[in-house]
Amino acid sequence: MSLQNKVAIVTGGNSGIGQAIVLDLARQGAAGIVIDYVVHPEATVELEKEIVKLGGRAIGVDADVSKIEDLQKLVDAAVKNFGRLDIMVNNAGIETRTSVLDTTEDQYDKVLNINLKSAFFGTQVAARQMIKQGGGGRIINITSVHEDWPMPGNTAYCLSKGGMRMLTRTAGVELAPYNILVVGVGPGAVETPINLSTMHDPAKLQKLNSAIPLGRMARPEEIASVVAFLAGDGASYLTATSIFVDGGLMQSSVGL
Ligand SMILES: NC(=O)c1ccc[n+]([C@@H]2O[C@H](COP(=O)([O-])OP(=O)(O)OC[C@H]3O[C@@H](n4cnc5c(N)ncnc54)[C@H](O)[C@@H]3O)[C@@H](O)[C@H]2O)c1
Repeated sequence: MSLQNKVAIVTGGNSGIGQAIVLDLARQGAAGIVIDYVVHPEATVELEKEIVKLGGRAIGVDADVSKIEDLQKLVDAAVKNFGRLDIMVNNAGIETRTSVLDTTEDQYDKVLNINLKSAFFGTQVAARQMIKQGGGGRIINITSVHEDWPMPGNTAYCLSKGGMRMLTRTAGVELAPYNILVVGVGPGAVETPINLSTMHDPAKLQKLNSAIPLGRMARPEEIASVVAFLAGDGASYLTATSIFVDGGLMQSSVGL
């Protein structure tokens, strides 16, 4: 129970990787979890019930992470319901699978606002609260192998994740004097709703699996366990860097 007395916010917390993170933080004994969501309130209610069964406490908050006032609403909910904030997981994200030639201004703005602007201001509002409490805290940005690795045909997504890479490094250095650690977690291919089209296409799935040295996509729980480690005492000397959880994908010589 390494996260006893710790209070967390997980953005995009009611599906996929976010949901698995919420559950793992609860299993590690987190004292309170704010589950951010924008769709499927019923999934959030079910998740809250699961956390109560695990002996934890959680509250769902409907908040659009591309808006600063909604990010502040998440921090206010953590403080009001659980008294403090220790762990901020900037997880919410979308992609458009469009190239530099065909991405529209609207698609660009959506991807950059939901992925990158949210992580920037999520870091800001969380760090301000952590400093107000006396310092100390963890900010974990869910990036992607595409923070570093180009994915032709998904340009705005790669740009947003590359921005999160530098946000992690720069904010990690700026916030180190307050003992607020900032780390990126870069998943490879994970079995979540964002990948349904690949998961339901046997030819695409086989091609993907053959490019991954471990031979398969990750389960969301395999990303969540790394996040839970980074939130705990065992990761007290890790900051301003990224951990890739990709089954070896970035080192593979088999192209996608
Ligand atoms: N699945 C993968 O293969 C993979 C790989 C690398 C990185 N990631 C990253 O992991 C994160 C989680 O993705 P996932 O795979 O679990 O897919 P997902 O679609 O299940 O999760 C994305 C979540 O973000 C939420 N969201 C979207 N717009 C939002 C907004 N404006 N405000 C608040 N929440 C919003 C969605 O409702 C959803 O809950 C994303 O940042 C994604 O880029 C996923």
